[in-house]
Amino acid sequence: MNYNKLGNTDLNVSTICLGTMTWGEQNSQGEGFQQMDYALDQGVNFWDTAEIYSIPMREETYGETERIIGNWFQKSGKRDKVIIATKVCGNTSNKYIRGGGYNFGKKKITQALDKSLSRLKTDYIDLYQLHWPERNTNFFGMHGYEHDENDNNWTPFEEILESVEKFIKQGKIRYVGLSNETAWGLSKFLELSKLKNLPKMMSVQNPYNLLNRTYEVGLAEISVREKSGLLAYSPLAFGYLTGKYRNNNFPEKSRMKLKIFKDFTRYKNENGQKAVDEYYNISKKYNIDLTQMSIKFCEIQPFVTSVIIGATTMEQLKTNIESVNVTLTTDIINEINEVQKKYPNPCP
Ligand SMILES: NC(=O)c1ccc[n+]([C@@H]2O[C@H](COP(=O)([O-])OP(=O)(O)OC[C@H]3O[C@@H](n4cnc5c(N)ncnc54)[C@H](OP(=O)(O)O)[C@@H]3O)[C@@H](O)[C@H]2O)c1
Repeated sequence: MNYNKLGNTDLNVSTICLGTMTWGEQNSQGEGFQQMDYALDQGVNFWDTAEIYSIPMREETYGETERIIGNWFQKSGKRDKVIIATKVCGNTSNKYIRGGGYNFGKKKITQALDKSLSRLKTDYIDLYQLHWPERNTNFFGMHGYEHDENDNNWTPFEEILESVEKFIKQGKIRYVGLSNETAWGLSKFLELSKLKNLPKMMSVQNPYNLLNRTYEVGLAEISVREKSGLLAYSPLAFGYLTGKYRNNNFPEKSRMKLKIFKDFTRYKNENGQKAVDEYYNISKKYNIDLTQMSIKFCEIQPFVTSVIIGATTMEQLKTNIESVNVTLTTDIINEINEVQKKYPNPCP
């Protein structure tokens, strides 16, 4: 396994992070336990979850993934071997989450954190992330930008950082990070931290994969210069970058075949499929596995701290973790970049 420093903390996180959002929906607790045992054995010491998981979000499964991880901590006694990241959700219309609405105000963020700690059966969370912004802005693949002057009821960033400072002093969390954030959001938080001597955002968890390299514009530079690296999620573009959906094939039990994911269309467009075909041809030409090529490409970026993988079977998990052993030659990277030029960010 390879390791990187998380932001400018003293934590060495594995460059492969174990994603967990299928546990409690597509995967049982027993399967989650197997994944955690195996991943830790392979040196994967960094795990990512969220209060809202399992995905897709449902009232019945809210908090279920954290519960599974908490049960594993209790059973294994290995809490101290893991760097655990979880998230508090942003603005939501789901009434079952603290009545809906904004969640980063002092009262609600405290409630959210205390519940996560209790489900995870731990005294502290290593990295507490704001899952998505409260304000209206572009994330989750939104296009265009319409500014709403009246959208100003969201929690001021300074107030959020003050809550975070309190949580750190209380020992409930060690560090804080962002997710689904924009360049404006990240830089504003960083500026405030410096100005007011408040905790710093140590990471940004955004999508990044061969079909969506938009992070490279704007955010990548901030990540490197300010030591607030990317935790790249959906490195396989929901599985499209394994090649298994090529030629309109939708294998049984795969995410895109499942009815529960029918509204997730981000990676399902013509140019995306053409780009996948070209990446597939590169992998065949150089005799490497397309899945591993796709994950490795994310891992080697200078602005990436860790790549958050997701797997529904042990076989997938093994393939994905073993991507750390793959080498991408300059020729392979050049050919990958040619495809990006031909089909720039087909699934942003
Ligand atoms: N912050 C956020 O908003 C956010 C959003 C999304 C994800 N995340 C985090 O990132 C993690 C990973 O995201 P993701 O699941 O979207 O990642 P992904 O790598 O794009 O997709 C993972 C899915 O692809 C399929 N797959 C994975 N490896 C495979 C293999 N070797 N062969 C064939 N199919 C394979 C599996 O689905 P099937 O078997 O069902 O086909 C798996 O669940 C999540 O668990 C979560 O922790 C965060």
